[in-house]
Amino acid sequence: MNQKTLAIIKPDAVQRNVIGEILCMAQERDLVPVAAKLIHLTRERAQGFYHVHRDKGFFDSLTEYMCEGPIFVMVLEGEEAIEGWREVMGATDPAQATQGTIRKRFGENIERNSAHGSDGPDTARFEIDFFSGDLELEG
Ligand code: CMP
Repeated sequence: MNQKTLAIIKPDAVQRNVIGEILCMAQERDLVPVAAKLIHLTRERAQGFYHVHRDKGFFDSLTEYMCEGPIFVMVLEGEEAIEGWREVMGATDPAQATQGTIRKRFGENIERNSAHGSDGPDTARFEIDFFSGDLELEG
């Protein structure tokens, strides 16, 4: 099934100038960027994006990290794009991630893990809507 997912290259990876390498990994999986922008989140927006994690012990640190520098936000489209991008990223914790995945190659630790992707269709809808103004998406 053709799908769209929301993908983010996080501040640690943008700072290390590896956006291009990560885009190549998406391309190898036939995931096509249909919208993209470099965005610098405010703390409030980072908290809004990750509101499902507001009760977690790592919430303050996560939202601080996500606005320490620009993020590269994309909508990726392709066959089973949600699961496909999650496979390209690898496990949340880089130490547990498979060789050749984004998080294995670039992630620093479980928080500073270089990439984000929607975890299901409902989340993808919420997350694409969240950035629709920035990405100048219609409707
Ligand atoms: P992401 O896929 O963007 O979803 C939530 C984020 O919270 C996750 O990637 C990590 O950046 C971060 N995260 C998840 N679990 C932990 C944890 N145990 N400690 C610190 N950060 C975490």
